[in-house]
Amino acid sequence: MSVSTSEPAAPATGTRTHRLRIVEVVAETPDARSLVLRPAPESADRFAHRPGQFLTLRLPGPDGGPVARCYSLASSPHTGEPLKVTVKRVAGGYGSNWVCDHLAAGDEVEALPPAGTFTPDSLDRDLLLVAGGSGITPVLSIAKSVLAAGRGRVTLLYANRDETSVIFRDELRALAEAHPERFLVLHWLESLQGLPVPDRLAAALVPYAGREAFVCGPGPLMDAVEQALRTLGAPGERIHRERFFSLSGDVFDAPEPVAAPDGGGGEVTVELDGETRTVPWPPGAPLLDALLAAGVDAPYSCREGACSACTCRVVTGEVSMARNEVLDDRDLADGYVLACQSLPLTDHVEITYS
Ligand SMILES: Cc1cc2nc3c(=O)[nH]c(=O)nc-3n(C[C@H](O)[C@H](O)[C@H](O)COP(=O)(O)OP(=O)(O)OC[C@H]3O[C@@H](n4cnc5c(N)ncnc54)[C@H](O)[C@@H]3O)c2cc1C
Ligand code: FES
Repeated sequence: MSVSTSEPAAPATGTRTHRLRIVEVVAETPDARSLVLRPAPESADRFAHRPGQFLTLRLPGPDGGPVARCYSLASSPHTGEPLKVTVKRVAGGYGSNWVCDHLAAGDEVEALPPAGTFTPDSLDRDLLLVAGGSGITPVLSIAKSVLAAGRGRVTLLYANRDETSVIFRDELRALAEAHPERFLVLHWLESLQGLPVPDRLAAALVPYAGREAFVCGPGPLMDAVEQALRTLGAPGERIHRERFFSLSGDVFDAPEPVAAPDGGGGEVTVELDGETRTVPWPPGAPLLDALLAAGVDAPYSCREGACSACTCRVVTGEVSMARNEVLDDRDLADGYVLACQSLPLTDHVEITYS
């Protein structure tokens, strides 16, 4: 069982997860709840994060095994507020309803440290943020971070079914009032304005099409926004998307170590947490497995090329990726790769997680 009400916050028994105390549960809308979280003091450093990143919660599954679900941090690392994730019920879904029905203030939950690449390079540039429903969480973190610690202006287009499904309505209004020159919220209510289809979105987004865009919400909304922005001439590498989906399998157990070859195979030099090591890269092993087998504490979550938790940057050498559902053209051009999907194309590869 990964949740308890009695034990004090302490490191989790597993090597990869950490315990966080739930200090408050906030009913945001009839079907969305926020968990305000506090890591144990000895884990606090591991929960430093960038705006737009997510946690992977370890929930008790129906058959006893753990279930992994990712939730973006809606809190900003630049405002001094505590960590907060917001979970919206999905009809027929297991994890979201379990969280909303079972977790209360005082409980503890286990989570992997923050991960993800849906985060702006600079807080000083003007941004366009587009969210649908629970997709507001990472973009709210980005918006608050720009307003608190940067100089950029932010326009947020936030699409919802109707007024009752708008999460963070009061917080958004307060932010807009506090930063009238820098923060504009455009609400799109399907009950009033109809579906956000590309041509109508394009009309609304004309003034902001030159900005870097961060888009998070249901697939059809993200497709419509991308189509609208491309119609307006926005280059694809300036449109970043965060896709919500459920992880499968146990992402919390470390994979079996990969045997290092007696001969052949290459090597990888890795820089992580200020330390540099060179370790063997056995033939056929994904980069992540080679690192873990050598005892490198490399980050990961899904191991399916779908979550970006294992992202690192290739400094020298070349790799190929079997699957990539998350890194965009800009990330690839900058040398970012998914360690869980990377196989070597050169004998020596140098990577960094900094
Ligand atoms: C990076 C990232 C960030 C995220 N951030 C957030 C966030 O901030 N807030 C948030 O609310 N969510 C977020 N999510 C989504 C979240 O992780 C879960 O996917 C979501 O809560 C649904 O999980 P669930 O267990 O309730 O649904 P699941 O049980 O995974 O079910 C999902 C859907 O599939 C259907 N389904 C399930 N099993 C079957 C079956 N056997 N046959 C047919 N249909 C089936 C269900 O009815 C449901 O409609 C994020 C996901 C990612 C990857
Ligand atoms: S661990 Fe999720 S993409 Fe590699």
